[in-house]
Amino acid sequence: MNNLKLLLVVGARPNFMKIAPLLHEIRKQNITEEQGKTNIAHLLVHTGQHYDVKMSEAFFKELEIPDPDFNLEVGSGSHAVQTAEIMIRFEKVCLKESPDWIIVVGDVNSTMACTLVAAKLGIKVAHIEAGLRSFDRSMPEEINRLVTDALADLLLTPSEDADLNLLREGVLPEKIKRVGNIMIDTLVFNLKKARSLKPYAQYGLEENKYVFVTLHRPSNVDNKESLALIIQNLAELSKKLPVVFPLHPRTEKNLNQYDMFPSLDRYPHLKLCKPVGYFESIGLADKAKFVLTDSGGLQEETTFLKVPCLTLRPNTERPVTITVGTNKLTSVDTITDDINRILEGKHQPGAIPELWDGRTSNRIIKILKN
Ligand code: UD1
Repeated sequence: MNNLKLLLVVGARPNFMKIAPLLHEIRKQNITEEQGKTNIAHLLVHTGQHYDVKMSEAFFKELEIPDPDFNLEVGSGSHAVQTAEIMIRFEKVCLKESPDWIIVVGDVNSTMACTLVAAKLGIKVAHIEAGLRSFDRSMPEEINRLVTDALADLLLTPSEDADLNLLREGVLPEKIKRVGNIMIDTLVFNLKKARSLKPYAQYGLEENKYVFVTLHRPSNVDNKESLALIIQNLAELSKKLPVVFPLHPRTEKNLNQYDMFPSLDRYPHLKLCKPVGYFESIGLADKAKFVLTDSGGLQEETTFLKVPCLTLRPNTERPVTITVGTNKLTSVDTITDDINRILEGKHQPGAIPELWDGRTSNRIIKILKN
């Protein structure tokens, strides 16, 4: 007998590693449960915000996520168009399936759009990774976080700072449950495999002797001057230490549009490539001398792996990666000094934040069952 029906939502690349452990935990609990006891029915909805094989399908395969029950195929568009399309298509799924809960993760447009739909239909919403705040409303993700958390019924947080942010915004304490970082479940589960693949070797690189870079935020890569400055810095850096830089579609599009690729031919150690899969990304981060990124996920993964991380942003919604972990904010003005500090071994060694232990999905399912 099913007495709990969940609709889980994914849309963009950073969502897949957050939903995978939850799906595996549900499957595990459904198998081990005696007949007649609480069985969890669950359906997976992919909004199709990310649709390239390398941005989406590859992660389903690697992380053993079953094919989605619904693919809304919304694709790209302006924020309004993308959000509206997701809402229109997701409402039909909700009306057809009448779930008890919808489960959303992270801060992408799909997270907010599906939350809005469910809230208006009176379907309960659980938000995993609730309470994170950069306090920078020029970031589309910050708007998504604020709206999602204002409407969600259950706010599942990764760290104490997130709880405090929610309480400050007037969220009732009983709605907030600190469960830890679900992405670390995926990392713990897959680390051995990622390490065994030694992905740096295919670039002719050795452990601890390269830099892993990912950059895709509009604030870094949409503006021509800012992108040119960053790329110049990376080109210079590559003369000291080889750089592996998988390009997000947004970054690649802009490098093409501003015709920046030809000037990079002179830098053989600046290795630009297509987006990499999950194992490759983890394997590259794990053995890098340091990581330079503007991704939220990599700030957390490097903290867990205790690899120094420079985050090319003026703020972060994940302060625990700085206070406890190995992360440091940087800018084009300070990056040279920050890199030198790491190369001289003067970076913070870092520790693993509380509840980042690979058991977050288990805690979440227990809460949902109760
Ligand atoms: C989105 C999320 C961001 C997340 C990032 C990770 C929002 C507001 N932003 O940003 O929080 O960190 O994903 O990747 O939800 N594109 C492709 N193929 C794809 C997907 C996108 O070519 O599979 C192109 C789109 O056409 C668009 C650009 O990449 O031009 C950006 O895609 P979009 O989904 O709008 O936002 P991201 O920058 O990926």
